[in-house]
Amino acid sequence: MFLFLWVLHTACSSRVFGSTDFDYKARVTLKEGFFRNYSLGGHHSRVEILQGPENGMVYVGANFRLLLINFEAPKKSKEVIWQHNVTVLLEDKSTDTLFVCGTNGTQICCSMETLGTCRSLHKADGIAPISVDERAPSLFVDGELYSTAGLSHNRNRFGIRRDFQNIIWPAPNKTEQRYISLALSGPRVDQLQDRVYTFLMEKNLDSHPEASPWIPCVSQVCRVDHGGSKNILQQSWTSHLTARLSCGIRHKNVYFTELLDVAVLHAETWSDSRVYALFRNIWNMSAICVYTMGDIDKIFTNSAFKGHSEQIPTPRPGMCVNNSKTLPDKVLNMAKEQLQMERWVQPVSDKGMMIFSHQQYTHIRVDQVKGSGPGEHTVLLLALEDGRIHKVLEQKGQPFIVAELQPLQPGVRVLNMLLQATTKKLYVCTSTEVLEVDLLTCESYGENCELCIQARDPYCGWDPRSRKCTVASSHTIQDVENASPSVCTKGKACNSEKYISQEITLDLLPSGSCFLRCPMPWAHAEYSWHYQGTQQQCVYTEEDCLLLIDNVNPQQDRMYWCEASEGGYRRTIMTYRLKIVNKAWRLAHQHSGILCILILIALFL
Ligand SMILES: *[C@@H]1O[C@H](CO)[C@@H](O)[C@H](O)[C@H]1NC(C)=O
Ligand SMILES: *[C@@H]1O[C@H](CO)[C@@H](O)[C@H](O)[C@H]1NC(C)=O
Ligand SMILES: *[C@@H]1O[C@H](CO)[C@@H](O)[C@H](O)[C@H]1NC(C)=O
Ligand SMILES: *[C@@H]1O[C@H](CO)[C@@H](O)[C@H](O)[C@H]1NC(C)=O
Ligand SMILES: *[C@@H]1O[C@H](CO)[C@@H](O)[C@H](O)[C@H]1NC(C)=O
Ligand SMILES: *[C@@H]1O[C@H](CO)[C@@H](O)[C@H](O)[C@H]1NC(C)=O
Repeated sequence: MFLFLWVLHTACSSRVFGSTDFDYKARVTLKEGFFRNYSLGGHHSRVEILQGPENGMVYVGANFRLLLINFEAPKKSKEVIWQHNVTVLLEDKSTDTLFVCGTNGTQICCSMETLGTCRSLHKADGIAPISVDERAPSLFVDGELYSTAGLSHNRNRFGIRRDFQNIIWPAPNKTEQRYISLALSGPRVDQLQDRVYTFLMEKNLDSHPEASPWIPCVSQVCRVDHGGSKNILQQSWTSHLTARLSCGIRHKNVYFTELLDVAVLHAETWSDSRVYALFRNIWNMSAICVYTMGDIDKIFTNSAFKGHSEQIPTPRPGMCVNNSKTLPDKVLNMAKEQLQMERWVQPVSDKGMMIFSHQQYTHIRVDQVKGSGPGEHTVLLLALEDGRIHKVLEQKGQPFIVAELQPLQPGVRVLNMLLQATTKKLYVCTSTEVLEVDLLTCESYGENCELCIQARDPYCGWDPRSRKCTVASSHTIQDVENASPSVCTKGKACNSEKYISQEITLDLLPSGSCFLRCPMPWAHAEYSWHYQGTQQQCVYTEEDCLLLIDNVNPQQDRMYWCEASEGGYRRTIMTYRLKIVNKAWRLAHQHSGILCILILIALFL
């Protein structure tokens, strides 16, 4: 018994106190009351999602189905059967149409004004993936489509291509590639210099056993690139450059090379736009590295070219020029070599990396949140391998997991996510349903100013008038940076309710042992037991902090309470009044120590 307790104690306390540098935990967990779901009917291997025509609406493409889901009025949702499994679902803003591609063994691409009706067909080869398992991101920029799907007749011309107005083909690829995401690098003051960036992984040709199998990269092409001359690079990119993305800690020998997902936070000035890249390593650690578009651009415009020591011709390869067809042969011949940059793209100055040792993330979306104060906060929405979702505050490169959302059955995988930033809704796709997750779950933090502040949720603030934790505005109180509850008593006091602790009276016979239970609603708090001026550590289980009352005797007839301490703020959670009674009294009152016994049984199961 004591050995068991000791093991339990040490195992659990290392979980809380002996944590490593990167072992972050969600402060609170939410399981219900924050989402709505819409069933897709059947099982779908791939689900594409796109912002709908109005708030609360999303377009969804799945296997043999196209939908316009209206979460505000589910009965008004539209569903049509399509002959293909959807692989591409985009909006062409220049013509105000949906651009949809699918496969039934043969690929097809359509422009649609009404859901399911092809207004015009497009050739699909190289735009639509051949198989539903092929990830091939694509992007519309002013009516031009950039895509990354493989060609059915030539698997060696794999890469970014452009269609519709000025068709440009990828060069033959020298290694296997996996495309993750595309983004516009612009609009710049000089729009001639606008580029499209591609985030991808290349198979590492280095077969050394310790070499990583993949190399994460970013590549650029110019929007004005019209291909080379009749002899060199005709209808192929003349501005295609590739640079390696660096993510890791050199002195700890921790590197991340498997790029899983990318989210871009576009800023008013293009060069301030931030790229959030989600990586995993072979030990299943996750990392998010943050790069700015300005830094990526500097590598492309300044770094030496790998394997080139001779003088660089003018214009420098990769610069965007008005008429690429008239570029000198010298430049085109150099561009033909599929240029790689010598220098790697580094995360933003030393704070641009977040490492999570025990969280396996698969998808990332990023939101910029206006809080109560003048500044803005960055929130990351991360899906985990097993379907949980983390809402993470990013502050100076330090992650703080504000909440863990559990809208799905454990183990259900997230296939896709879409953030609707205007309404603060996150749409989460699984193989059977689409969920609308409300990110403004402020009341779940408690009816108490201090708890609202300590939540550090940039979406939420304490409203002193309604005395509620509510959606942040200029009328609410917040302290996302320091989470200091002292803001609750400053100025116009919030005058909030105290945290109401639970009280239980227990009648015990003077024999045997007993555990007292205390729940742990906040994962970042430290919990302890108190009685008569004594403080005692918890015996931890997954969900509770327990106190062992050993050898029950009349001296223990007193009050025991359990406290949570977080950020220097203490609150009592549970209070027990133990009454040690004798047998005769017990028989007369038919009470029993059932609570104790149940706890013990639960512990040993
Ligand atoms: C695939 O769809 C095309 C129409 O786009 C149709 O002609 C063809 O019969 C379909 N093939 C299969 C195997 O369903
Ligand atoms: C389309 O989806 C169906 C149903 O999930 C699947 O059986 C079929 O193999 C898929 N077809 C292609 C070409 O991916
Ligand atoms: C080009 O990329 C495709 C897709 O990743 C791959 O199947 C093909 O083998 C690559 N070609 C070469 C020469 O590595
Ligand atoms: C990483 O996670 C996968 C899937 O969850 C698992 O199969 C694999 O064993 C894990 N690898 C390590 C080194 O923990
Ligand atoms: C590019 O062409 C446009 C008009 O076609 C012209 O206004 C502009 O000055 C040119 N830019 C450069 C850098 O030559
Ligand atoms: C989604 O909705 C269906 C009813 O349409 C329900 O049966 C199912 O339990 C819901 N799923 C979740 C995770 O709530």
